[in-house]
Amino acid sequence: MIEVEKLSKRYDGRLVLDGIDATFAPGEVTALVGPSGGGKSTLLRCLNGLESFDAGVVRVGSDALAPGDVRAQGEKVRSIRRRVGFVFQQWHLFAHRTALGNVTEAPLHVKGVGRKEALERGRELLEKVGLSHRQDAYPSELSGGEQQRVAIARALAMEPEVLLMDEPTSALDPERVGALIDLLEQLRSEGLTLVSVTHEMRFARELASRVLVLYGGRIIEEGPPERVLASPHHERTRAFLGLGRVASLRTMGA
Ligand SMILES: Nc1ncnc2c1ncn2[C@@H]1O[C@H](COP(=O)(O)OP(=O)(O)OP(=O)(O)O)[C@@H](O)[C@H]1O
Ligand SMILES: [Mg+2]
Repeated sequence: MIEVEKLSKRYDGRLVLDGIDATFAPGEVTALVGPSGGGKSTLLRCLNGLESFDAGVVRVGSDALAPGDVRAQGEKVRSIRRRVGFVFQQWHLFAHRTALGNVTEAPLHVKGVGRKEALERGRELLEKVGLSHRQDAYPSELSGGEQQRVAIARALAMEPEVLLMDEPTSALDPERVGALIDLLEQLRSEGLTLVSVTHEMRFARELASRVLVLYGGRIIEEGPPERVLASPHHERTRAFLGLGRVASLRTMGA
């Protein structure tokens, strides 16, 4: 369970998270959507101690992060990171490790899993994301979509309770988006909690139980995807989803 209370953050004096309250329950799948610059990545990064914040609290189970430098809260951050996985918007793969090496690195060196077991599980995960045949390739030899899938397999290798993903489908073709939805759906049914930033409304509609719309550092709307995406209450959500234009065309009699 992750709980965020009155979370605020400034960059250079500018408020980018403005009193966020949110709860992410076990097994729940949340899609974070909203226009560029709204604070989605920043919120996600605050949830596992990648980013310091100025006010409020972030609770992950019994660990609570306080405002101020997260580096000074090292023990809590490490405890949180053991349970909360992260897939970055820019993937951040280890350039000097193969696909399989990327996936086995943390289980071997952070979790202390045995080599044989780590390799077995790593190959299994690469198969799940459709990359068995590329396990020995280095990131520079992989396409964007392939790197993205390695990043997902790498996060799953730590068997997290919660997985935070920043636009996990941005480099995937429609078929791969479908495959990723199926994989995450399976993990969700096994109890994984998912919070994903996405611009892919199909991803939100098919996978999420809840959509949060972030705009100007605030949650301006939340609810089940079928409601929020089809008939949003907030004017800004309508505009973001491209519904505003249709509405204005209708009023113009088009
Ligand atoms: N390191 C930084 N220093 C200063 N400002 C930052 C920094 N990182 C983000 N910002 C600003 O904070 C705001 C929120 O950024 P954030 O990356 O969270 O947006 P986002 O919703 O993830 O956008 P996108 O959809 O484009 O990824 C933006 O105005 C951005 O310019
Ligand atoms: Mg972002």
